[in-house]
This record gives sequence, C-alpha cells and structure tokens, in this order.
Amino acid sequence: EKSRLRRTRALCLPLGMGDNYSWRMLCRLFELEPELVFLFQYNSSHFSEVQDCLRSAEFTEHIRKVMTVIDAAVSSLDSLSSLDEYLTSLGRKHRAVGVKLESFNTVGESLLFALESGLGDAFTSDTREAWSLLYASVVQSMSRGWHR
Ligand code: HEM
Repeated sequence: EKSRLRRTRALCLPLGMGDNYSWRMLCRLFELEPELVFLFQYNSSHFSEVQDCLRSAEFTEHIRKVMTVIDAAVSSLDSLSSLDEYLTSLGRKHRAVGVKLESFNTVGESLLFALESGLGDAFTSDTREAWSLLYASVVQSMSRGWHR
C-alpha cells in the first residue's frame, strides 16, 4: 500500500493543479450529476440552474476547497493518516449538507476527466491509477463521517 502511494506521489507532484483543472472539473461534475446543484445552496443564492451555480463565487470557491484538500493529501502521502481526523469531520459536514457517499465518485470522475483533458498523452494509465488511488484514499477517510 505504502509503495503504491509513494508511486502516486511521484506521479502527482509534477502535475500541479491550476485553475484550468478546476474549471474543467466543475463543468464535468454537473454533466455527470446535475442534481448536485441543489446541494450547493448558500445564504445569498438558491440555484435552480446549473449555469447560475457555475457562475457563483461560492461554488467556484468550493472547487478550490476540493483542490486544496487533494493537494494536501498529495503533499502528505507519507503520512496520510495525519489527515484522518480532519477528513472524518469533513465527511461528517458533507453528510450534514445531504451529500450521498456515491456522489464522491462523481467528483472523482470529474477530477480524472479534468486531468486527462489537461494532460493529453501524458495522462498514462499509470497516472490515472495513481490519481484514482489517491482520491479513493481521501474518500475512504471522509466516508468515516458516515459511519461514526
Ligand atoms: C464544504 C458540498 C465534495 C471539500 C462544502 C459545503 C457544501 C459542500 C454545500 C458547505 C459550503 C461551502 O463551504 O462551500 C459538496 C458536494 C460535494 C462535495 C455536493 C459532491 C459530492 C467535496 C469533496 C471535497 C470537499 C470531494 C474534498 C476532497 C470541502 C471543504 C469544505 C466543503 C474543504 C469546507 C468545509 C469547512 O468549511 O470546514 N461542500 N462537497 N467537498 N467541501 Fe464539499
């Protein structure tokens, strides 16, 4: 497990995560699961259209939050368990806003899609596997928020 994660780190670090990725990712998210739009309700705005949500500052900010968490996981691959407590409580928050565990898969697919379209040929099957593993371990920790 550790050695797989080490390999993941080596593959992920050079990729970086610019706004380009975030943008592709957030569009893809709603293509795959449009109903997610109803979960992003902020005091100032209640979205009924995906386009309104995509244009909102709060939603764009949330994608940045997702990327920050992924980035933190990449930089602490050797000690992912140090993020456990944080990720468990993050999971609990998401359960509280009504997110279903399965929806995290949609986010994962959107992330892979964004990386693939950004990297082109550099997105090898190894790279895909590394990112899938990394994201899966983040989700696994967050899913503890559903179980305890
Ligand atoms: C907060 C929805 C997936 C990271 C939130 C909030 C909502 C939300 C409504 C509270 C408002 C806000 O801060 O914008 C969702 C939905 C998801 C999802 C519908 C799709 C399944 C994720 C994933 C991550 C993540 C996969 C990270 C890997 C965060 C963070 C916060 C947050 C860091 C801020 C928590 C805090 O304020 O302490 N999310 N989220 N979210 N989300 Fe998500």
